[in-house]
Amino acid sequence: MPASPGHRSPSRFVLPLNESILRKERFNIGQIFVQRCIVIMTLITGLNMLLITGASGRIARRAAALLAQKGYSLRLMTRHPQQAPAVDGAEVVRGDFAEPATLDGAFAEVSAALVISGSGKPGERAQLHRNAFEAAVRARVGHVVYLSLQGASPRSKYLYSRDHSLSEQYLAATGLPYTVLRNAFYLDMFLEKFDVEGVMRGPANETRGAFVSREDAARTAAAVLANPPGGTHDVTGPEALSLAEVARRFSALTGRQLRYQSESGESGRERLRKREEASWRVDLAVGWFEAIAAGELEHTSDTVFRFTRKEPMNIEQYFTLFPELSQSLRLAQDKDSGS
Ligand SMILES: NC(=O)c1ccc[n+]([C@@H]2O[C@H](COP(=O)([O-])OP(=O)(O)OC[C@H]3O[C@@H](n4cnc5c(N)ncnc54)[C@H](OP(=O)(O)O)[C@@H]3O)[C@@H](O)[C@H]2O)c1
Repeated sequence: MPASPGHRSPSRFVLPLNESILRKERFNIGQIFVQRCIVIMTLITGLNMLLITGASGRIARRAAALLAQKGYSLRLMTRHPQQAPAVDGAEVVRGDFAEPATLDGAFAEVSAALVISGSGKPGERAQLHRNAFEAAVRARVGHVVYLSLQGASPRSKYLYSRDHSLSEQYLAATGLPYTVLRNAFYLDMFLEKFDVEGVMRGPANETRGAFVSREDAARTAAAVLANPPGGTHDVTGPEALSLAEVARRFSALTGRQLRYQSESGESGRERLRKREEASWRVDLAVGWFEAIAAGELEHTSDTVFRFTRKEPMNIEQYFTLFPELSQSLRLAQDKDSGS
């Protein structure tokens, strides 16, 4: 029967079977493409979010800057958002280990978190870190990187090392995947160790320490946060030095007469008690040297190179690269000489 005007053959409306399937497949391919884009966007903006705590601190700032340069999505947690570093594209949130309620938002939808050890009295810090780890558990964070200290042990001569040891135990107990970076004492610490006469006193004897630059510690933390390896790693400088050697090397670097004078733990405590009331501060200051004397920070490791593909810097390389850091030591000399 011939088709009347306005009446179209059904064949023009019903797609041939194979064409219908093709259209359906095209629709499915489009849908899959859209879904994949959503997954990628989620990964980029959400699940791949890296959290760094203590964002106004020196290690955190540097680690954040390095990761931002590489395009990572960052959330910076700080107790003082107005002091947070300006990092392109980074989200800034207020968070304090001492206020657990502030931590849930900070740890939400984070793939990996760098928990920078906070400040506090010995014996109290581990509890602060535990609050952070518990928030990470609630938020199901994929991996926690904790910044600890070389020689962390319940029997350490240095009170903070005992806190770090306890913090590490709390972290392990969470069941979350984790990496512990046990930083050696920073080379930067020596900038505050010499008195106005250029003498560093303390009971470290002739034992060596594998001191590391803050820069290498920050670079290692950034690399590990981006690609967490798991495990516990000592982060050290390239060589182990006695404090007498450290003083000689700083003397050559700054042109100032600097020296190390060993003393007993008892005379160290007695000397410091005259100007420091809090006995735990005295114990910390003397314990820093005693931990070195006990060989707690003596061993070098290849961690910096393994994770950053760059050898750690020695004293000369570090303070030549960042001359402003050792300015305080040079200025002290200018004051001594009245200039
Ligand atoms: N290996 C060593 O020789 C050595 C020497 C010094 C320190 N350390 C340890 O290494 C860590 C990092 O070193 P750094 O040089 O970057 O120290 P830093 O410049 O003193 O920064 C530490 C940051 O920790 C954050 N913080 C303190 N209390 C906190 C709390 N209750 N809750 C959350 N965050 C808190 C603060 O950040 P916000 O103000 O932004 O919250 C602070 O800026 C230190 O925190 C310390 O535990 C090691």
